Amino acid sequence: MKIQRFPSVRSMMDQLDPSYPIFVVWPDVIRAKVSVFIDHFPGEVLYAVKCNPHPLILETLFGAGIHSFDTASLPEISQVRDLLPDANCYFNHPVKGRGALETAADVYGLADFVIDDAKELDKIEQIVGTDATISVRFATGGTGAVFDLSTKFGVSAADAVRLLQDVARRGMRPALTFHVGSQCIDVEAYRTALVTAKTIIEKAGVELAYLDIGGGFPAPYTGVRVDLEAMLKVISDTVTETALDMPLLCEPGRALVVDGCSLLLQVHLRKGDTLYVNEGIYGCLSEVNIGKFIMPTRAFGRGRTLKGDPKAFRIFGPTCDNLDVLDSPFLVPDDIQEGDWIEVGLMGAYSLALASGFNGFVTETVVAVDGPCRWLDEAQQIAESAEINLE
Ligand SMILES: Cc1ncc(COP(=O)(O)O)c(C=O)c1O
Repeated sequence: MKIQRFPSVRSMMDQLDPSYPIFVVWPDVIRAKVSVFIDHFPGEVLYAVKCNPHPLILETLFGAGIHSFDTASLPEISQVRDLLPDANCYFNHPVKGRGALETAADVYGLADFVIDDAKELDKIEQIVGTDATISVRFATGGTGAVFDLSTKFGVSAADAVRLLQDVARRGMRPALTFHVGSQCIDVEAYRTALVTAKTIIEKAGVELAYLDIGGGFPAPYTGVRVDLEAMLKVISDTVTETALDMPLLCEPGRALVVDGCSLLLQVHLRKGDTLYVNEGIYGCLSEVNIGKFIMPTRAFGRGRTLKGDPKAFRIFGPTCDNLDVLDSPFLVPDDIQEGDWIEVGLMGAYSLALASGFNGFVTETVVAVDGPCRWLDEAQQIAESAEINLE
């Protein structure tokens, strides 16, 4: 993989003068985030590949110490194994196709699978056999999360007890997992889930291979206060208090990569307070509307310095669809014009991974910028003081 590297975003623009969108990876920022998780989580940290499967992301994470991956499909498994042959993969999707299960086990040697239903356990036993670790996923309340994954997956505590016993009875290795929901800002959600896990484990009376506390850790979108170290400390303290003494795993996606990527857009037309840009909701920005996120931005003039005061602009994406508009405006200097660029921060999670290519607009160019990403905090403060109203 040949990735162009630059010392700064400005130098990249001067060199490329891009009229196409550019996805910017800041490897040093990702490495720093990996250190926070590894230093403060009392167990092994996996990465949820779905969040951003770009090879540069996977390689950066692996190099920084993430050696195990939550993979949810055969393409994710094969991608990780092709790129990082020494990586461990866990098949952490509660519903798997028979063909995917067979190939995952026979070709890639996977032995860790998630279930939330006895029929899925039957399927795994038929296809993989009993030499497998089966993690039973229980549902959480979804409190504090933007995306409540428990509306789709996870059993009740009582059913988790029965499933764990069933796993053990079949001679497979039981494990337990939950996901508090993505972009979860309430650390109490983890606390509650850990206490529930303890109860389930005691009632089941089986020895666990591990407890996987999932992902869900939040990103500091504008107006969202995040203290990741403090969250991890609460989790660590709860683990100690409740005497959860089996190996622990977590599998964050968003929090590991979100601030380590940005997206560079170009303004292709200005009509009054509206900007037509070259990325939108069918590209990397779909989650911005779904999650009602307000994004930090900074702008660069093309061949000139922007001097205007920050002003809220309505943002239309590049496709012909009228739905391709952002619900929240971008704050950029009021003298912005066609040809100028806008860099959107906090773009690492569920961005490239969700881009559809609709209408032929594909974000293909991925570059690396070395060094710390210093502009984000200031952009957040400006956006917060402007009190952008989403409604
Ligand atoms: C099973 C599982 N683990 C981990 C994640 C990553 O979650 P997040 O990006 O919120 O950390 C997801 C996200 O959908 C998931 O479904």
